[in-house]
Order: sequence, then structure tokens, then C-alpha cells
Amino acid sequence: MSARPDRGDSAASGRPARTAAVIPAAGRGVRLGPGAPKALRPLNGTPMLVHAVRAMAGSRSVSLVVVVAPPDGADEVRRLLDAYPLSGSLTDTTEVVVVPGGETRQESVRKGLAAVPETVTTVLVHDAARPLVPVDTVDAVVAAVRDGAPAVVPALPLSDTVKQVEPRIGERAGEPEPVVGTPERALLRAVQTPQGFDRATLVAAHEKVALEGEGATDDAGMVERLGVEVVVVPGHEEAFKVTRPLDLVLAEAVLARRRANDGF
Ligand code: C5P
Repeated sequence: MSARPDRGDSAASGRPARTAAVIPAAGRGVRLGPGAPKALRPLNGTPMLVHAVRAMAGSRSVSLVVVVAPPDGADEVRRLLDAYPLSGSLTDTTEVVVVPGGETRQESVRKGLAAVPETVTTVLVHDAARPLVPVDTVDAVVAAVRDGAPAVVPALPLSDTVKQVEPRIGERAGEPEPVVGTPERALLRAVQTPQGFDRATLVAAHEKVALEGEGATDDAGMVERLGVEVVVVPGHEEAFKVTRPLDLVLAEAVLARRRANDGF
């Protein structure tokens, strides 16, 4: 790792601004069907996780990537990352660390956060399951944090109308579910990652939620519980989460389009 000035520059406040990305990649990905852990499944021959690491390392501001591996899979993930260089012009200066994860996403993020040195002021949390987020989106999140927002989330307006229902579970699963409300669509956003945080804010959020003993699917939601303002910046359609089999088809189509565009 060398010391590019871009990766450790000063924020407007004058304090050193060093950015790390934590990538929780310890999930099984059961909704994708049987097979390897989701993050290790290939997209165009390259594991999803490698795409995600490249997406973070491709940002000039990110100097450290912490990959959170399945609890018993840290060695395998380390070997995998060593086998796939972080190709791209700037990425050779980014340090990549692998740590074992936990039973829940929240626990995995907390373990990743514990591996981030105190010199880091901005922390991104990025799902391995969003391998194709463009670097401009990453940079926009980092810029908003460095401009003073304690928590920043990329998000898009919804195309579908959303209904709140009374879920039918257990013996009643599969029955028609009564609608209990329709939130105004224009007020809703679908949130993506990387979510960006002032480091101290994210650490405080994880400490508070750990004390309350609740699981969380979203780091920004934990910060909201602290009473700290979270702001939204524009997300990107290519930052979608690979969750179901059709998402793999879409992801490979995006990669094919990028290759075709790069050819011109
Ligand atoms: O399951 P879901 O798609 O919401 O997972 C989001 C991200 O959290 C994925 O990148 C997944 O690998 C990660 N995760 C984790 N540890 C867990 C569960 C999920 O790192 N125990």
C-alpha cells in the first residue's frame, strides 16, 4: 500500500479524512437458491464479492476495505481475494483486510467496524450483494459525509406503489392478506449501499443497538434510533441488491453493457 495523497486528504474542517469501507459478506443468500454463500457466487466468472471490493477500492477516497467473511470462511475468502487482483488504475493502493463475521448482518458489521483503525474518520458500509454500484455513487456518499453529514444513504424513488398489510403467517400463510394502509409513494425512497457515516456516529449506533439487543437490517436505521439526522443522496439503478435468481441475470446484463460501452 502506498500513500496517495487522494486517499488521506484533509476535510474542510482541517481534520484528516481517511475513509474505510466495511463489506458484510457473511450471509448465506438462501433466496438465491442452493449453492455457495451468495458473496462467492460468480458474475461473469468473477465472484460477486470481488466486484464489490473493486467498487469500493475504485473510489479514490477509500484507503481500506474490511471484508467480513462467513464465520468459518475467512481463510477461503482471503485466498479468493488474493487470486483476483483489484484490477483498475487506482486500486493497488487500497489495503484489504478479511475478518470473520457473525450470525446476523448487524453482528457482521460490528465485527468489521472493530477492525477499522481510529485514524479513519469516514466509514462506508456496503453490501457484498450490491456488486455493481458505480464509483460516482460511492464518491457522492463520501463527499456528503466529509461535508458534515453524520449519516448518508443513497436512495431512489420507488416505481411500485407500496401497501402495508397484515401479514398472514404460520397456518394462515398463503391466504390473502388485508391491506391496512398505502403510504404516499412520493414520500418514500428505496435505500441502497454504500451507506456512509462519521465513524464515531456509527460506532455509537452499534453500541446502543447492541445494548437494546435488537437486530437491524440497515445501519442508517440504527443511527436514526440515536436521534441523529440521516440524509439521502441520489442512488443508482445499477446499485441494486442481488437477492433472487433473476437479479443474477440482470447483473450479468449490466456487466455486458459496461463491456460493450468500454469498447467504444
Ligand atoms: O440477507 P441480505 O441480502 O439482507 O444481506 C445483506 C448483506 O449482509 C449481504 O452482503 C450479506 O452477505 C451480509 N450478511 C452478513 N452476515 C450475516 C448476514 C448477512 O455479512 N450474518
